[in-house]
Formats: sequence, structure tokens, C-alpha cells
Amino acid sequence: MNFKIAVLPGDGIGPEIIEQALKVVSAAGKKYGHTFDFRKGLIGAAAIDNTGSPLPAETLELCKSSDAVLFGAIGDPKYDNNPAAKVRPEQGLLAMRKELGLYANVRPVTTFSSLTGKSPLKKEIVSGVDILMIRELTGGIYFGRPQGRSEDGTTAYDTCVYSRSEIERIVHLACEYALLRRKKVTVVDKANVLATSRLWRETATETAKKFPAVEMDFLFVDNAAMQLIQNPGRFDVIVTENMFGDILSDEASVITGSLGLLPSASIGLHTSVFEPIHGSYPQAAGKNIANPLGTILSAAMMFDYAFRLKEEAVAIRRAVEQSIENDFVTEDLNRSNARSTSQVGDWISATISGF
Ligand code: IPM
Ligand code: MN
Repeated sequence: MNFKIAVLPGDGIGPEIIEQALKVVSAAGKKYGHTFDFRKGLIGAAAIDNTGSPLPAETLELCKSSDAVLFGAIGDPKYDNNPAAKVRPEQGLLAMRKELGLYANVRPVTTFSSLTGKSPLKKEIVSGVDILMIRELTGGIYFGRPQGRSEDGTTAYDTCVYSRSEIERIVHLACEYALLRRKKVTVVDKANVLATSRLWRETATETAKKFPAVEMDFLFVDNAAMQLIQNPGRFDVIVTENMFGDILSDEASVITGSLGLLPSASIGLHTSVFEPIHGSYPQAAGKNIANPLGTILSAAMMFDYAFRLKEEAVAIRRAVEQSIENDFVTEDLNRSNARSTSQVGDWISATISGF
């Protein structure tokens, strides 16, 4: 088959890691008889520099007319350090998620057995951890209005908004995924303080009635943050609102040994986006040292979720596992004998070709 893939490298290390993912996708295509049109688009700081907009209309059109979007990273220190900037790179990513209706961000957190020694947590705590983190992606405090400053500039405000239907559809999805796994859903909220969280709890309880086989429990976010470190093995599917999910998924990624390893799929109404969970890591940009595995594993999720091609996804994951087992990895995972970003991409592509 032929697939149209919108390729949005973005900022910082984005272009380098995306290049490795494209090599791997091409290798898998060659092996299993698929072809791809890689169609590049601008987003983030790169897009602001070129067009003035963090998400040019052309890029959005490109996404809508593609079978999947492969996304690198976004963010640039020149904006992070300038709170007065009118346009920000991150607005491009948020607008893309909103415009494509990508209300669910699926972040699997699994440990590679050969990496359990690299986790900051004890081996017995991390081994066998297999969590599916489902983050609501188009609501909550990220998008609620009003947002801004008082006229005199001395007060700022953000607004957290959720509707019943937004909560219902994401909890529904979480329960469906749970049925394919260990049938447990943990809803994370702050219902002891926030009105939106109380609506989450109420709606989730209602939704769970449609899934009698699923066991649902509720945790306050502060407690969830602690239990992720203390006993990550207790979790199967976690579903939570946008900002809690953002924070908890970075925390959970460390369990696996490196933030650079975690992939994600953003799914919803239009074309799905596949993106690593890490940021643009500007300090490493252009140095050929960043870990491309999160992006390569995101490409595996693309085969799985967008193209419904399981065998190809499994092959990519297997090749990634082998690179880890052989310690053929970047410096975040192997200080003493680090491989470069492109060496890891080449190694994994060659491994797939050899299957
Ligand atoms: C992520 C990122 C983004 C987010 C930023 C870059 C806007 O941290 O995808 O997790 O907060 O959603
Ligand atoms: Mn994040």
C-alpha cells in the first residue's frame, strides 16, 4: 500500500530524530511492500521564523490530507525566556491538536527488561511495569478561556473547563483499551479541590457502568504522583485530564530509564499524530546525540494505530529492543560507549531489513 505521511520535524532536535524515524519507516516499507509519500511541513519556531505563524494554514491542510502525521518536537529557548512574545511555538502544536480534534493522547509506558538497571528506581519496582497513560488533549486549562492578564499586568489567570461529553468520550476510550489489557482503569483527578475534577469523577462513574468487566478506581493526582514511583506495577490504564496527564507522563517516563524512549499517539476526529513525549532539547540540537527511540517507537504506533499494520509495528519494536539489548544506544542510556542519533537510526533500519 501507499501512505501519505505529513512530516513535521519542528524545533531543536526535531529534525534529527525525525530523520531516523523516516529511515526506519522506509526500511519497514521496503521489507513489507509499502511505499510512502513523506510530505514535510513547518510548525513551531521554525514556522514562526519562516511565515510568522506557528501553524501555517498550509501545514494544517497537509495534515488533513494525509493518512498520518509524524511529529518531532516543539519549543525554542528564545521564546521560553521571553514571556512577552506574542506568538509562541507551542501554540502551533496546541492548535494542531485542537484543529484535528485529537482529544486522546495515548502514552504507553513499558519497561525494556535490559534497561531496568538504568531506571532511577529499584529493579524490583520497575520490572514488568506496563501502563497505558491516556491523557485528555484538547480541553482543560490548556484551552479554557478566559486566559490572560489584568489591565495593570499584576494579575494573571487561566481557566480549567471540561464538559461532560469531553470527559465521557475519553473515559469511554480508556475503558475500551482496558478491555484489551488487564481491565483496570485508574481515573486521576483532584476532586477534593476542583469542580472540573468532580465532574470527571461523576461522569467516569456513569461511563464505567457500560463496562461491567472493567474495574475502575480513583486517585487524587498528588497521590497518583507518589504511587507511580512507589508502586508503578499497580497501574494498568490511567486516564486523566490534560495538564495532570502532561506532568504524570513525564514522571512515568523516567521509570523506563529515559524520557527519550517514550512514544505517543494523539487520536481523535481527524488524522492522527504520532509524536515522542519529550521536548525539543535545544541544548542537543544539531549535535547528533539525542535519543531517536521515542520517535521511532512513535512511528511503530503509526503502523499500528493509523495503518492497522501489526506485523510492521512489531518489527520496529523488536529492532528497537535489540538495539537496547545490544547497548547500541545514545548517551542518555550509555555514557561510556554512546552511539550517535544517526548511528542508532541506521542500526535499527538495517536490523529491520535483515529480519
Ligand atoms: C507534550 C509537551 C507539550 C504539552 C508542550 C510542548 C506544549 O510538553 O506534548 O507533552 O504540554 O502538551
Ligand atoms: Mn509534556
